[in-house]
Amino acid sequence: MILVTGATGQLGGSVVENLLKKVPASEVAVLVRDAAKAEHLAAQGVDVRVGSYFDKASLASALQGIDKVLLVSSNDFNDRLGQHKNVVDAAKNAGVKHILYTGIALKDINTSPLKPLFGDHFETEDYIKASGLTYTFLQNSLYFEVIPQFVGASVLETGVFFPAGEGKVAFASRQELGEITATILTTEGHENKTYPLTGSEAYSFAEIAAELSTLSGKNVPYINPEPAAFEGALKQFGLPDVIVLMSVLFAAAVKNGDFDQPSPVLENILGRKTTTLSPFLKEAFALETV
Ligand SMILES: NC(=O)c1ccc[n+]([C@@H]2O[C@H](COP(=O)([O-])OP(=O)(O)OC[C@H]3O[C@@H](n4cnc5c(N)ncnc54)[C@H](OP(=O)(O)O)[C@@H]3O)[C@@H](O)[C@H]2O)c1
Repeated sequence: MILVTGATGQLGGSVVENLLKKVPASEVAVLVRDAAKAEHLAAQGVDVRVGSYFDKASLASALQGIDKVLLVSSNDFNDRLGQHKNVVDAAKNAGVKHILYTGIALKDINTSPLKPLFGDHFETEDYIKASGLTYTFLQNSLYFEVIPQFVGASVLETGVFFPAGEGKVAFASRQELGEITATILTTEGHENKTYPLTGSEAYSFAEIAAELSTLSGKNVPYINPEPAAFEGALKQFGLPDVIVLMSVLFAAAVKNGDFDQPSPVLENILGRKTTTLSPFLKEAFALETV
């Protein structure tokens, strides 16, 4: 039996959707905080187990009878390492054989501006290794889907305003990450492996602006502001402090080259070419080539 956590979220939801194309629903369980959000899965025969990363007792019972668990990293930064440790401990105690963890693909966390936010992904990996459980680390690239969040809905009018310099990102589509994760969960040979699940091509934000120009027929410039000016502009928009901080750190990490590690791993496991920038932007911004 395979259990997927975060199944009410976007990545976990895609993993379960793809798993159900590969194995019978009777072999799939999910951990959710709110069973009402997983009624569509229960209706298909998925074993819906209720629990929270914060609640050790709920995890102890949710992980009974599970062979493989996919731990989708929490989106709650309040002691995220502690949350993940609770799942690892419960998996070990319940006799789970193999744990897969969705971390982040970063060149070197120790030199990354994102260390304060994402150091816990690597600490989670260290904790899993020390647990003695068989592991697979799925180091996910930045999703293509974050681009609209970084550039804003009015990008065609405002231009791409993001202090990432010439830094590039080997984006991956969340849907394709879901599919590849389901493949890894249902095939052999991934024991004790670490996969950087990054796209095969990396793009700069200047290239994103250029592609938006081509697709829209408008002049969409790339503006590379000073980080302080960027931070000030986001604050002026009234964005919450945590979003401002994350945006500033992400931009600094892109500028630092932290996400510039294209790799063939996704394509090799999927057995086909992965999504590229142009079709993603076309769909995300509802553009037709002019
Ligand atoms: N690579 C990237 O570009 C990128 C971007 C965004 C996030 N991420 C990371 O990747 C993860 C998956 O991405 P996503 O887009 O699927 O995120 P998402 O849609 O926000 O889903 C997060 C999932 O985690 C569950 N969750 C949160 N706290 C939990 C807890 N205490 N106990 C049990 N479940 C909990 C949520 O459950 P509820 O439905 O109950 O809230 C939800 O199912 C995120 O959580 C985040 O760590 C990566």
